[in-house]
Amino acid sequence: MEKERKMMMLCLLLAAVCSPVFSDEWRASVVSQIDALVSSCVVVPCTFTHSGGTLPGSRLRGLWHKQTKEELIYYEDQTKILDNFKDRTKMLGQLGQGNCTLEMTQVRNHDNGPFCFRVEIVIDETNKPTKEMFSFVEQCVTLNMLLDAPKPTLTHSKTAYEGKPYTITCSVTHTCPSHPPQIKWSLKTTEDITVIHKNQQSGNWEVQSILTFVPKEKDDHTEITCTAEFNGQKTSSDTVTLYVKRAESYNHIIIPAAVGIGTALVFGVFCIFMAKKYKNRIIELQNRDGSMLNRLRSLSRRGRR
Ligand SMILES: *[C@@H]1O[C@H](CO)[C@@H](O)[C@H](O)[C@H]1NC(C)=O
Repeated sequence: MEKERKMMMLCLLLAAVCSPVFSDEWRASVVSQIDALVSSCVVVPCTFTHSGGTLPGSRLRGLWHKQTKEELIYYEDQTKILDNFKDRTKMLGQLGQGNCTLEMTQVRNHDNGPFCFRVEIVIDETNKPTKEMFSFVEQCVTLNMLLDAPKPTLTHSKTAYEGKPYTITCSVTHTCPSHPPQIKWSLKTTEDITVIHKNQQSGNWEVQSILTFVPKEKDDHTEITCTAEFNGQKTSSDTVTLYVKRAESYNHIIIPAAVGIGTALVFGVFCIFMAKKYKNRIIELQNRDGSMLNRLRSLSRRGRR
């Protein structure tokens, strides 16, 4: 056990000593292109590794710059950043975890880039990076400027049935998971809304709002609008018309049928009752007739004698 521990310590020491030497072993991975909505925000996914293993975040400095290293768009020290980008960029990722994800807010028309990532290792105990003490990789991203907000899409089943839950989904794509678009619905009923955020890789995201409600008869032909409100006030929307099938659409069959069956039943009972009543009377009459005939017969016999 003691030997193993010593070996591990040695390895760690070697790794720490060697990492600045093997500077070319650094790797960063940044998406090469990403859509960015003007006035909104964009999050550029970025990760990096180096052969020496992970270093604590306190020993790393991440920076983002334009074509030249001097044109900084993100740095810890705000004073060194280009005026244009001051207070607009933020490192969302934890450098200690190899995450160099960058957020840019209030995107402007000319923020196309390319923007490149660089990492510095601070060896000095006082954490002061000096030119001799850094190692870096470069990876660059270009922003595709979008002037208009992407339109949401509505998916739903064709017909809604009165009194039965109906689901309609509104989805919209974006590239700013830190401030995703808010989806609003025009319906003001007691709604049940579920929001789902889907990562579609390479910095693209989709937000889905699933609305479930129970349509009423009066909702027929109502227009349902879903509006996506992007960070920075830009909006886009889509509308569908709701068609509600009435639940009592079967009543024109059910009611007459029920009435018919009811009438038949009442009539049937009446007939049976009448038949019973008349049966007695017929038998009575037959009996009476029978006795009359007998009497007549005996009378005629007596007369012949
Ligand atoms: C990097 O950090 C961002 C922001 O915190 C996070 O959303 C993302 O999942 C992280 N990426 C990785 C690969 O860990």
